[in-house]
Amino acid sequence: MPEKDDKDAKNFHLDVPTPNEPFFLRGSNSLDWGLKNRLAKIFNPESGRTVMLAIDHGYFQGPTTGLERVDVNIVPLLPYSDTLMCTRGILRSTIPPSYGKGVVLRMSGGPSILKELSNERLAVDIEDAVRLNVAAMAVQVFVGGEYETQSVHNMTRLVDAGLKHGIATLAVTAVGRDMVRDAKYMRLACRMCAELGATYVKTYYCDDFDTVAASCPVPIVIAGGKKLEEREALTMAHNAIQSGALGVDMGRNIFQSENPQAMIQAVRKVVHEGEQPDRAYDYFLTLKNEKKSA
Ligand code: R5P
Repeated sequence: MPEKDDKDAKNFHLDVPTPNEPFFLRGSNSLDWGLKNRLAKIFNPESGRTVMLAIDHGYFQGPTTGLERVDVNIVPLLPYSDTLMCTRGILRSTIPPSYGKGVVLRMSGGPSILKELSNERLAVDIEDAVRLNVAAMAVQVFVGGEYETQSVHNMTRLVDAGLKHGIATLAVTAVGRDMVRDAKYMRLACRMCAELGATYVKTYYCDDFDTVAASCPVPIVIAGGKKLEEREALTMAHNAIQSGALGVDMGRNIFQSENPQAMIQAVRKVVHEGEQPDRAYDYFLTLKNEKKSA
């Protein structure tokens, strides 16, 4: 027991107003403390943005190019990520538990690349997400897909479980092969996810992306998509950020780059500092050449 505190001279700082700051992320002010705290492990409170490193591709397509050896190819990139998005198999087997930033856990799965991808179910129990101390849980939502309702139901069940335990839900808008990746579709998919309770949404960049971001009341991040030339990928990230995205959840454009460490650092410049694409690309080249001459 502490000794009795019987000093009369206390300082209540009566001239200092009690702070009442809104939370820094759009649409997130009414969330509980634990959920906000977890979101602050994903989005940098200084910039309000995030560089999520997405390496969950193996959950439906096996050892994707660049992810053949996560220990060799990905672990060295972790210091440059704000958050890691992965499966529980990779997390437990390969990611050092000393990784202190947010983990976004892939929670849905089922079909492989050989089958109908929208036929996913929830593939991880909420208790395991709690056990793994994750910041958010990711679930694929196939708006317009063959199993649309099932995938939306996966998300809403996860939202309910996440709210109970203070864990964020990331809805990933999955665009089927035959669908057009235009702003009209993205607005529909992102808004549906937000309305049905997703804490934040991941989607693809498209023309008129500002209308997608404006009509989605919660944070949006963009996926990188298929591998592009580095300057082009940095331009896409820049355009997305300038149009209202609060970050990237980028995989192949980082780990399939000719120099992943240089690329992720260049992406950080674009996301956190609003760097212009040409300057970010020069930064990429500088880092790449430094490594060569070292
Ligand atoms: C796709 O289903 C996975 O969730 C990936 O995490 C996502 O597509 C982002 O990776 P990439 O930037 O390679 O598209």
